[in-house]
Amino acid sequence: MSTGIAGNPTPPFHGGRLHHAAERFEIPLEKWLDLSTGINPHSYPLPAVPHSVWQRLPDDDDSLLSIAAGYYGSAQLLAVAGSQMAIESLPRLRPSCRVGILSPAYAEYAYQWTRQGHAVEALTADEIEVQLAERMLDVVVVIRPNNPTAEFIPQSRLNRWLTMLQQNSGWLIIDEAFIDPLPGAEQLSMITKKTLYGLIVLRSVGKFFGLAGIRLGFVWAEQRLLDKLSEQQETWSVSGVARWAGAIALQDINWQSKMRRALGVEAQRLKVLLQEQGFSSQSTPLFCTVDLREHQQGLATDLYLQLAKQGVLVRNFEDYQALRFGLPANAAGWQQLASALSELKR
Ligand SMILES: Cc1ncc(COP(=O)(O)O)c(C=O)c1O
Repeated sequence: MSTGIAGNPTPPFHGGRLHHAAERFEIPLEKWLDLSTGINPHSYPLPAVPHSVWQRLPDDDDSLLSIAAGYYGSAQLLAVAGSQMAIESLPRLRPSCRVGILSPAYAEYAYQWTRQGHAVEALTADEIEVQLAERMLDVVVVIRPNNPTAEFIPQSRLNRWLTMLQQNSGWLIIDEAFIDPLPGAEQLSMITKKTLYGLIVLRSVGKFFGLAGIRLGFVWAEQRLLDKLSEQQETWSVSGVARWAGAIALQDINWQSKMRRALGVEAQRLKVLLQEQGFSSQSTPLFCTVDLREHQQGLATDLYLQLAKQGVLVRNFEDYQALRFGLPANAAGWQQLASALSELKR
């Protein structure tokens, strides 16, 4: 799998581009079932935004950070305008270095590190292990659970990698954007009360809470690094509305535990539905990914197009030959998906 990613990188194409799909496939927006992201379709039910929140500037001294400390289990946090902000900023905080990304992965990592002049390699877990032992990597990026493969690297292995990176003043970046809905997420997370040298964890409020539009995430790392990241942020980059909404959602433990259970059931339903159509998948509570590498070349794109022509938008990973399905929001969505899947020709 080890592939160098060199040259002039192009910005990745993301899921959720419904207007683009509507134009490309000439199907009106309202007819689409958008399963192209891993964002919870059951967004946190926010109350009406108070007038004062619209009217005032964002206030860094509000309750957001202390509430976030309760939710994430540590106060060593920086609020950012989506974890994407940190993905873009971290490569600017190191001189040119060697970066290994557990792959396939959210394409922004390879794009942003390459863009900043670093030497980036797409690696499997075993390849990372070998390269670390030979001191060939300065930074390792791991998404857990991984998007799109759902692979979950155990803590013990990551701790070993961290120890090797620490010897070289390296970084281990763990992206936990999809960890929140997993049962026992708190224990599974790499976040500990006190920070560890070289360990950086990114968290997203967008996915589990279904609030991607507010653009809110957190970085957990040593204070020195948080300070440097903070310098990269524009003043008031996390909006007052995002701070207000995040504070409400992060402290609603009742909603969180109900939602965790509901998503577990729905992801299982999706897995079974795909299975009934002959597709085995790797799943997290927010998406199922069908790996088509064993089938003829081009099948992923072919199935993607067939689904799109029926108004079902999924995420096509052309290079990896996989399709990722998010969860439908309601009965009509489940029905539309079931009927589109049953029409597929292979
Ligand atoms: C693995 C992963 N990390 C981070 C992000 C960025 O999420 P956000 O900026 O909304 O927190 C995404 C978005 O799709 C993602 O898939």
